[in-house]
Amino acid sequence: MKQASPEGLKWFQNARFGMFIHWGLYSILARGEWVMHNERIQVPEYEPLAQQFSPTKFNAEEWVSVAADAGQMYIVITSRHHDGFSMYDTALSNYKVTNSPFRRDPLRELAEACARRSDIKLGFYSSLLDWHHPAYRFRKESGLAWSDYLGFLHGQVRELCTQFGEIACLWFDGDWPDNLLSADNAYFEAGGSFEYEKLYEMIHTLQPDAVIHNNRHGEPLPGEDIQGFEQDLPGQNTVGFNTTKIFDLPIEVCMTINDNWGIHQQDENHKSTQRLIRTLARAASVGANTLLNIGPTASGEILPVHAERLREVGKWLAVHGESVYGTQAGLIPSTQDGSLVSTRQGKVNYVHALDYISDCLTLRESPAALTKATLLRDGSPVKLTTRGDTSILTLLPEQRDPTDTVIRLE
Ligand code: GLC
Repeated sequence: MKQASPEGLKWFQNARFGMFIHWGLYSILARGEWVMHNERIQVPEYEPLAQQFSPTKFNAEEWVSVAADAGQMYIVITSRHHDGFSMYDTALSNYKVTNSPFRRDPLRELAEACARRSDIKLGFYSSLLDWHHPAYRFRKESGLAWSDYLGFLHGQVRELCTQFGEIACLWFDGDWPDNLLSADNAYFEAGGSFEYEKLYEMIHTLQPDAVIHNNRHGEPLPGEDIQGFEQDLPGQNTVGFNTTKIFDLPIEVCMTINDNWGIHQQDENHKSTQRLIRTLARAASVGANTLLNIGPTASGEILPVHAERLREVGKWLAVHGESVYGTQAGLIPSTQDGSLVSTRQGKVNYVHALDYISDCLTLRESPAALTKATLLRDGSPVKLTTRGDTSILTLLPEQRDPTDTVIRLE
C-alpha cells in the first residue's frame, strides 16, 4: 500500500499550523454544519438553500492572507460536507455551488490564490457520508446501488486530485464507529465499504505528496498518513472521540476556534489568543499539527473576531516560530499539569513556560549538557543552574510572557 512521499510527510510535519474552513449551505442557516440532521430538515426543504447561496463578499485572496498572517502553512476546506452540497464545480452532481446564484467556484479561486504564493498549500475535506445523495441515503427509494455512491465519491476525489494543482491533503470524515452515531440510521448507514484501498491508492498515485487524514477515530489504516485527534490534544479525551492509543505517525489535532465547525449564530465562545497559542505549543510539544477551524459567514466573510485572533497568533509566531515550525516532540518532559511543555529542533530544545507555579522553572530529566539558555523573544540570557539531571531556569520578572515564555536551550 502506498503512503504519501517522504517529502510530503516532511512538509506536513514541518508545517505545524493550518486553517480548517467549514463553509457550505449550512452557513446560511448559521446553526452549525449539522443543522440538516439536528433539525431533521428533509431534502426538499434543505435543497432550495442552494438558490440563496450568494456570498458576494467572498474574496479568496483575503482568506488566504488571513491564513498567511496567522502563520498557517495550509488550508483545508470542505469540498462537500455531510449535507451533500459540493462547494466546487463538480461534474458529478448538479447540487453544487456553480449552480447557485454565486455561480463561481470558490475552491478554484482559493487554489489559484494559494498557487500565487509559495507559503500556503490547499487541501480538501471530503465527507464520506452524504445526507442528500440518493445512492447514499435513499437507495431503497431511488433503486440506486452502493456502487453508484462509490462511483460518485471516488470520482469526486479524483476531481479534487486532478483539477486544483498540487494539493496538501485529502481529509475524510463521516465513517465513525457505531457508538458515536445517533439512532437515526438513515442519515448514517453506509451501504458497504468505502473501498479505501482503491481510494487511497488513487490519491497517492495522483498526488504523491498529499497526505491522507481520515477522521475515523480509530487505528489508522494502511494508506492513511496521519493520526487525527478531534477537539483534544493527543492523550486527552474530553469529548469522547479520542480513545485510540497514539501510533507512530504524524499527528494532526483539529479544533474549533469557538464551539462549532460551521458558523453558529449563538456561539460567541471564541477561544482567546492566549489559549490558541498555548494549544499550538502543547500540540507541537507532542509532535502534532494544529488544524484550527473557522466557519465563515454565508456572505463570505471570516468573522472579524476570528481574523483578529488569528493575526495575533501570527504575530506571536513571527517571533517564536522557530520553537514551533519544523520542530519535533520535546525531549524535556512536560510537567504533569501542562504548565510547561517543550519542543526541539536538532540539538536545540525549546521550553514553553505557559504558567508559573514558582519563581523558577524546574526541568527534570533534562537532556544532558544544557549549557546555554536564552529568551527566544530577544536573545537575553536566562539563568541556568544544573543539578544532576535537573536544570533550573530563573527568569527575571520582565522576561516572563503571560502567554508563553519560550526559552531556547543549547
Ligand atoms: C466532526 C463533525 C463534522 C466536522 C468534523 C471536523 O466529525 O461531525 O461536522 O466536519 O468533526 O473535524
